[in-house]
Amino acid sequence: MYDFKIAAADKASLYRDLLLALEGLTTGEPDPIANMANAAALIWESLPDLNWAGFYRNVGGELVLGPFQGRPACIRIPFGKGVCGTAAAEQTVQRVDDVHAFPGHIACDAASESELVVPIVRDGQLIAVLDLDSPRKARFDAEDEAGCVSLCELLARVL
Ligand code: SME
Repeated sequence: MYDFKIAAADKASLYRDLLLALEGLTTGEPDPIANMANAAALIWESLPDLNWAGFYRNVGGELVLGPFQGRPACIRIPFGKGVCGTAAAEQTVQRVDDVHAFPGHIACDAASESELVVPIVRDGQLIAVLDLDSPRKARFDAEDEAGCVSLCELLARVL
């Protein structure tokens, strides 16, 4: 087992350390499921106040549940539906302070209050989305978004 203990004093260092750890975990490993599984576990262990962290993969133009940590979740999400489907269809980050105010939000876990979804895109093609949920409203700020975008840029190369 890898024992990464990432407890940085500020978010910039936290995401820098996370990126280095993720690089270490994925370098040289070609299996995308293994890399998503370790990425989900690393994020879950390192970021506070999450109730779900994981991936939905683009399988033939539909989002299908991938490796994650948290409670069992909905399995298939059409492009354009919910926060994940919107991120997938538009290939844009969705940072939602209050999921109850997001039209069409899909409530997989009633505890979720805010959500960050980052598309993982290679050569213009959507590979997957990273989905983070929090039981705290407005849990994710611009630094979390930038940090997770960096993680997803790395993942775009190894998924
Ligand atoms: N809330 C998401 C669905 C996925 S779960 O949060 C794990 C959405 O609206 O797309």
